Amino acid sequence: MWIQLICVVCCCWGLLGTGLALQIQCYQCEEFQADDCSSPEFIVNCTVNVQDTCQKEVMEKSDGILYRKSCASSAACLIASAGYQSFCTPGKVNSVCISCCDTSLCNGPRTKRNRSAAVMHPGSGPAILMSLAVALLTKQL
Ligand SMILES: *[C@@H]1O[C@H](CO)[C@@H](O)[C@H](O)[C@H]1NC(C)=O
Ligand SMILES: *[C@@H]1O[C@H](CO)[C@@H](O)[C@H](O)[C@H]1NC(C)=O
Repeated sequence: MWIQLICVVCCCWGLLGTGLALQIQCYQCEEFQADDCSSPEFIVNCTVNVQDTCQKEVMEKSDGILYRKSCASSAACLIASAGYQSFCTPGKVNSVCISCCDTSLCNGPRTKRNRSAAVMHPGSGPAILMSLAVALLTKQL
């Protein structure tokens, strides 16, 4: 009984210590700048398990667009993003938009609208069907 409990605890501890250690990299430029700082020299390692989000601020001025980027915790970024929601009017002068994303270097270059890239990868259709089937089966059991 105790042995089992200890095993479970150790197992979870092990997972926390290794498997779930999360570190991402983001582009970071602390001051607003016109260059969108998406070149390698702006890449930083975010704090492990704390900064799980890349934040990007885009400010539109009459003479151009300014960028600020950083690592952030997801909570901090979401709060900032929500707080600026009413100032975010893309295409208008003085618009400020804050966006959050959670994969390495996701606050990089402006996302290209490339429709061909959005086409579903071959094989992902069946995979989705499979996981649906598994979900249904496990529910019935
Ligand atoms: C980030 O961490 C990796 C290894 O974890 C290291 O090789 C790299 O130099 C670090 N980059 C910076 C900018 O600190
Ligand atoms: C879109 O992606 C395809 C393949 O990934 C590439 O060949 C093409 O040049 C891209 N188009 C643009 C406008 O980036």
